[in-house]
Amino acid sequence: MSNDQTPAARPLLIAIDGPVGAGKSSISDEVASRLGILHLDTGAMYRAAGLYALRQGVALEDEAAVTAAVLRAEIGVRYENGGQRTLLNGEDVSAQIRTPEVAAAASAVSRYPGVRAQLVRQQRALAQSTPMLMDGRDIGTVVLKDAPVKIYLTASAEKRAERRLIQYREQGENPSFEDVLAAVNARDEQDTHREADPLRQAEDAVVVDSSDLSFDETVAAILALVDAARQKEALHV
Ligand code: DC
Repeated sequence: MSNDQTPAARPLLIAIDGPVGAGKSSISDEVASRLGILHLDTGAMYRAAGLYALRQGVALEDEAAVTAAVLRAEIGVRYENGGQRTLLNGEDVSAQIRTPEVAAAASAVSRYPGVRAQLVRQQRALAQSTPMLMDGRDIGTVVLKDAPVKIYLTASAEKRAERRLIQYREQGENPSFEDVLAAVNARDEQDTHREADPLRQAEDAVVVDSSDLSFDETVAAILALVDAARQKEALHV
């Protein structure tokens, strides 16, 4: 924090929401690093909750048992060279949470209001102490309702499926485009239709559609929106 700020300056908080495959994680990483602020990937926290439920052998359909288990777990993050490490009861599970099994468990446990309330509380507490960029599904609508910069990052389902397919091929897998597109559509349906805090665009969010933008162009579009917000209001980093 520099000394020439007026006392009224708010911390720079950026909320980025959007559907699966819109590039939220990598774009958010780059934007946060260019601005010199932290990036909190909230999906990683839901993944850690899902991993804990799996490890405890809790039936994922059992809302009460899953909620009780997640309340017992200590889910946290730590930053190493500016990058987020995700912790479960003190163990660094950043790699373990990236499997399809954990993604499915995260999707299941994130439906439960008690799980969400717990993680939202932690996310808000983290943003109290430092300027940051947070990405997820409910950041602009629930977690940081007052964030001075809100972005809804999206792209057509076909483009998102194309990008996913490239990632799969890099990992040595070769699913068909049709299968990947069907999975993207299924996740969209699930994310936007669940009862608790479904994915939706906040009224005051700006849509960035990356369908026809490169990675660098998308980053530049978001940085321009941040600049515009900082012209209107003193926001400190
Ligand atoms: O973005 P991701 O795939 O890592 O997210 C994992 C799961 O958590 C996904 O099913 C959506 C859910 N999620 C959520 O409900 N709310 C958030 N703020 C972030 C993720």
